[in-house]
Amino acid sequence: MTIISPSILSCNFLKIQEELDVFKNIDNLWFHLDVMDGHFVPNLTFGHPIIKQLCTATNKPLDAHLMVTNPEFYIDTLKDYGLHNLTFHVEATKEPLQLLKKTKKYFNSGGISIRPKTNISDIDINLLKEIDLILLMSVEPGFGGQIFIENTWQKLTELMMFKKNNNAHFQIQVDGGVNNKNSKKLIEQGVDNLVAGSFIFSRSPQDYSQLVESLRN
Ligand code: DX5
Ligand code: ZN
Repeated sequence: MTIISPSILSCNFLKIQEELDVFKNIDNLWFHLDVMDGHFVPNLTFGHPIIKQLCTATNKPLDAHLMVTNPEFYIDTLKDYGLHNLTFHVEATKEPLQLLKKTKKYFNSGGISIRPKTNISDIDINLLKEIDLILLMSVEPGFGGQIFIENTWQKLTELMMFKKNNNAHFQIQVDGGVNNKNSKKLIEQGVDNLVAGSFIFSRSPQDYSQLVESLRN
């Protein structure tokens, strides 16, 4: 079943425990943590102390999306918190393959993220052969509530082709502008994991479960 990953970037931070608890009976659900440094992207979110506490606030798998320059400076600290999955941007580091090896050692699942302008053909094939997951940004990273960028469809096709031709089994995660109008097609095109922020958290907590299910159709 498709995994839905609510992005807490759009949640009510003053009531975060209540926000997380609303999802506790929903299966195949991860929480997506957008870590921004104000340098790789023009926005700043949260860092180590908050991520550490979030890991104790839920039993759901936590998924860290590092939108930071030099992600290699962060993962040695993050490895001890209990995160399930971690992705870093290939555009943010000089040694992605080396960092991926470490990421896979430290977390249950490790992978890469790519910005909308990064082509699939720009990615080192050795990376694609090693990742557990690829995060395709379908908006410019930095902010919730943006419109889905259409070139994501072409990238999905290319990735599915790569998986088939190379017998690769990595998960595909799509992040940005996901809603119940595009989720059906995304799933049909092979997406395993949908990140959704504003689509879920802009509504009332009593609607969250239903909104999650509407993404899976
Ligand atoms: C943007 C983040 C996303 C964001 C998605 O840089 O990576 O995870 O929270 O928000 P929506 O679903 O509102 O586009
Ligand atoms: Zn994200």
